[in-house]
Amino acid sequence: FSLKKYNTFGIEAKAKQFVAVHNLDELKSVLENHASDKKFILGGGSNMLLTQDIDALVIHVDLKGKKIIKEDDDFVWVESQAGENWHEFVLWTINQNLGGLENMSLIPGNVGTTPVQNIGAYGTEIKDTFVSCEAMNILSQEMKSFTKEDCNFGYRESVFKQEAKDKYVITSVVFKLTKRNHKINTSYGDITKGLENQNVTTPTLKDVSNAVIAIRQSKLPDPKELGNSGSFFKNPIISKELFEKVQQKFPEVKFFEVSPTEVKVPAGWLIEHSGLKGYRKDDAGVHKNQALVLVNYGNATGQDILNLSKYVQKTVFDKYGIEIEAEVNVI
Ligand code: EPU
Repeated sequence: FSLKKYNTFGIEAKAKQFVAVHNLDELKSVLENHASDKKFILGGGSNMLLTQDIDALVIHVDLKGKKIIKEDDDFVWVESQAGENWHEFVLWTINQNLGGLENMSLIPGNVGTTPVQNIGAYGTEIKDTFVSCEAMNILSQEMKSFTKEDCNFGYRESVFKQEAKDKYVITSVVFKLTKRNHKINTSYGDITKGLENQNVTTPTLKDVSNAVIAIRQSKLPDPKELGNSGSFFKNPIISKELFEKVQQKFPEVKFFEVSPTEVKVPAGWLIEHSGLKGYRKDDAGVHKNQALVLVNYGNATGQDILNLSKYVQKTVFDKYGIEIEAEVNVI
């Protein structure tokens, strides 16, 4: 079974077996019936790089449905099943004038995988509106509810990348959104600029969403046209000590303070200033508009992309002494 259509990198890799599940009962019985088989859980396929065929039963989580489950005067609690497309879910909330997700418009992937890496963009992360998620234990098929605390969210991090890795299938997620007094966040420079250009002075949720969509479309490749997984690397968080050394040699380096002792450096900047923006080897490349994104020009294998990523890591390390770590799940 070809997984090419099931990963946004568009990598050709084969699954030994493949099954799509559409509700909890189906998921439960597949897990029960394949208790002793190797299993691989597949959501939207937007944050992984397949470097080999999958010698396992691939379970594609295709649970659908989204609804309001509770509300008070100020807030609405919405629940989405894991297989809903993230961007469609975001638009559904915005069309009902529910606030909180608008800055994360147009992020590829499905709702169920958003907690895994605490997706974020333009000043917000899902942890800001996340309430809880339901997950099925792969071994026991018992359902477990994870509160925000249980998830232990960090920058592109959560319990699902640590202790809970490969143990659960996330089946639904609840977010708490604003009904009024929306906390419009236009702190990210390009959003402010975009809104100014449109002469928008008091932006609505829709205006912010549209501004985000315009920025993403201008910088980030559309996986439908050019295979990619968004940011391939995390922005490294380094000690102030190391940062000061780098800054002495490269005074123009960009940075954000994250704590009194640590600094986050945009990996896109490091890669670009290592001369690799737009670099291409065969069908694997560094995107021409956003150096943090690696792309598949058509027939790259997962190994080609992986080799390119190692080359990028080495080049950046040799120049700056900073290690950059993959954000996508390399399989
Ligand atoms: N930069 C460069 N060259 C590049 C890319 C970036 O110099 O090729 C510089 C920019 O000029 C800017 C800084 O790096 O000063 C930050 O760039 P940008 O705002 O484009 O964001 P990013 O740090 O590269 C992160 C997220 C993105 C998210 C944007 C916007 C990570 C790993 N990536 O990228 O998330 O959309 O911020 O908030 O944190 C993703 O995770 O897949 C993703 C796309």
